[in-house]
Amino acid sequence: MSLIGQHNNGNGLVVSGPQLRPRKKEVAMSSSEETGGSLSESQIAVHWREEEYLYPSAGFIGQANAAEPAIYKRFSEERFPECFREYADLLHWDAYWHTTLDTTNPPFWKWFVGGRLNASYNCVDRHLATKANKAAFIWVPEPETEGAKAITYQELYRRVNEFAAMLKGFCGLESGDRVTFHMPMVPDLPVSMLACARLGVVHSEVFAGFSGTACGGRIADSGSRVLVTIDGYYRDGKWLDHKAKADEAVAVAKSEGVEIEKVLVFRRNPGEYHSASPMVQGRDYFVDDVIGDYLRQLVAPVPMPAEAPLFLMYTSGTTGRPKGAQHSTGGYLSYVAGTSKYFLDIHPEDTYWCFADIGWITGHSYIVYGPLALGTTSVLYEGAPAYPDPGRPWRIAERLGVNIFHTAPTTVRMLRKLGKDEPAKHDYHFKLMCTVGEPIEPEVWRWYYESVGKAEAAIVDTWWMTETGGFLASTLPALKPMKPGSCGPAALGIYPIIYDDDGEVVEAGSGKAGNICIRNPWPGVMQTVWGQPERFVQTYYARYCQDKASTDWRDWPFMCGDGAVQAEDGYYRILGRIDDVINVAGHRLGTKELESAVLTVPEVAEAAAVPVIDEVRGRVVEMYVALQPGLSASPEIEDKVKRSIEVQIGKVARPKNVWIVPDMPKTRSGKIMRRVIASISNFADVGDITTLANPDVVEGIRRQVYKQKTERGEAPRELSAKELEEIQSYGKAE
Ligand code: WTA
Repeated sequence: MSLIGQHNNGNGLVVSGPQLRPRKKEVAMSSSEETGGSLSESQIAVHWREEEYLYPSAGFIGQANAAEPAIYKRFSEERFPECFREYADLLHWDAYWHTTLDTTNPPFWKWFVGGRLNASYNCVDRHLATKANKAAFIWVPEPETEGAKAITYQELYRRVNEFAAMLKGFCGLESGDRVTFHMPMVPDLPVSMLACARLGVVHSEVFAGFSGTACGGRIADSGSRVLVTIDGYYRDGKWLDHKAKADEAVAVAKSEGVEIEKVLVFRRNPGEYHSASPMVQGRDYFVDDVIGDYLRQLVAPVPMPAEAPLFLMYTSGTTGRPKGAQHSTGGYLSYVAGTSKYFLDIHPEDTYWCFADIGWITGHSYIVYGPLALGTTSVLYEGAPAYPDPGRPWRIAERLGVNIFHTAPTTVRMLRKLGKDEPAKHDYHFKLMCTVGEPIEPEVWRWYYESVGKAEAAIVDTWWMTETGGFLASTLPALKPMKPGSCGPAALGIYPIIYDDDGEVVEAGSGKAGNICIRNPWPGVMQTVWGQPERFVQTYYARYCQDKASTDWRDWPFMCGDGAVQAEDGYYRILGRIDDVINVAGHRLGTKELESAVLTVPEVAEAAAVPVIDEVRGRVVEMYVALQPGLSASPEIEDKVKRSIEVQIGKVARPKNVWIVPDMPKTRSGKIMRRVIASISNFADVGDITTLANPDVVEGIRRQVYKQKTERGEAPRELSAKELEEIQSYGKAE
């Protein structure tokens, strides 16, 4: 590997010039006040080590899509918003736009106004001339005996057309209608998405790991009349019967006033039905039966206005009900195509594997829309990362010749724990690796770099969220060095600003923490919260809006919902959510959602969810519960609490422990002091509790939890300063 002017410190890491050497900063933490409300983010001084820089190889730079520093000039603020033309020009437009950015109705920005395009045409049809028989997807079923299946662009074209014909002909769907999918990682999912996009129908995919109840709530919110599901799929060596969830989803949607007319059931193995759930006459239909009437039919892609919604993606925030982030057709597709090209460095001839689930935004943007818009070949894997053993991902990479790999820190941690030495046994070579979804610890980053990437692959740590459609910060891999634990500078054309809790700007590059916002609109930003425009304004813009009457975008910074610091070199380090969200293995779970699920258990009077730092999953949830007067704790109640979460949200959210306590520690105004119980759950010092209304309960809870944790074999884990700070100030937003 070429080190372009740097020297190697002997363990594969590249150390750079004197001003860039690791340096320590003083630890200076101010303590949170008892109200839990007055610690300003900017008062938390940064106290962790800056890591060293690492540089990509000359080989990588030589072939990179963005290798000229001039690209930063092209996307400089003076060139905003026209700079984003470059992204839009990656697409085929049926009608070119006349206005790049319309700000007349803030903050409901419109991009590429006047333009018309079809997302399905852009991801499929236009590649047929040169790539008809190139694989669009290579699907890898979880059981290794099944072997991989390639789906060419030509085959994808046929399948998308046939399913679109069926959605139109059999379901009567037309542009503007919504359809909910509850689908796992099978090719039928991207086929369904693209079929909707072809018709201008808005899709809303719900992560397959979510429960039927969670799916039902999202059906009701979106007003879908059609649900697309599957009989079942493989995960971790088990066949999961999925269709049963559809029955529950339909019932829940109905109880909320929305009637599903048709449930379209894919069969994982066409012709064979493997679910215990009976098909409901007149409601449920096997796709492989009905599609027989639509074989060979072609459906013309509908040229949609650039600002027509393409899909909804539900996500969690401060309040109980998940919000449907609405993404546009033209702006979104331009943004994911452009960022896939420059940050993931996708070329059509690459074999790209994003190990995320399409049920999340990462899968929408960086498995389906971005890579297909660029005409590349993507691996789609059905199952669990370490099934049947932790060598599996590397066998897949070797066999299929994957050269770009994209995953989340939780998967990296898991593969490192279970099979540290596995990657070296396999003959694959990545040119680029991506990490997304959570902060990655520098030690984990180094294993990823040295072992998984064999010190050959450039890493991009991409920071963004459901609402932003695509990356907000990342190094451009050939142009900026990597720094473990920091995502890097802002993405092209993105201008962040950090505010403190009082609305003052935190000095750029000061290393002080605050709430990170984006000053300018960008094409990938969500358009609204489906059906709740006021909530959209309230959640993302109200706090730092400079002038509500202004139509100048400069007055409307977008609040991302994360705490962050910017170091002197301009790199950002993300501290995590500020809005009562716990990030479990990359899944964004709202504490309010978890708590309201638990409050459906009749015995429960109060519930509080707190994060526990976990070696593999990043964070896991522990639930504190106080019972109705006169009741006492029992394993049955504990079980009911766990089950309530599984049923309302899904197994992903199942708490690690449920602690039934006699009373919650509270402020004098009656608020549960989450930082106290979070500290107990993490074996951390509870800090000052003198101003609590009931400080005496704390010691009892501590003893109870420590004792039970010890019995369950859970040992205290040393927390880093950053982790300690997160836990000891947890819930201060309330
Ligand atoms: C977190 C996932 C640190 C962050 C794309 C954000 C990250 C939330 C990173 C969004 C990263 C995402 N480093 N933290 N590279 N990427 N996050 O909506 O807290 O599922 O707000 O979107 O994940 O999660 P979401």
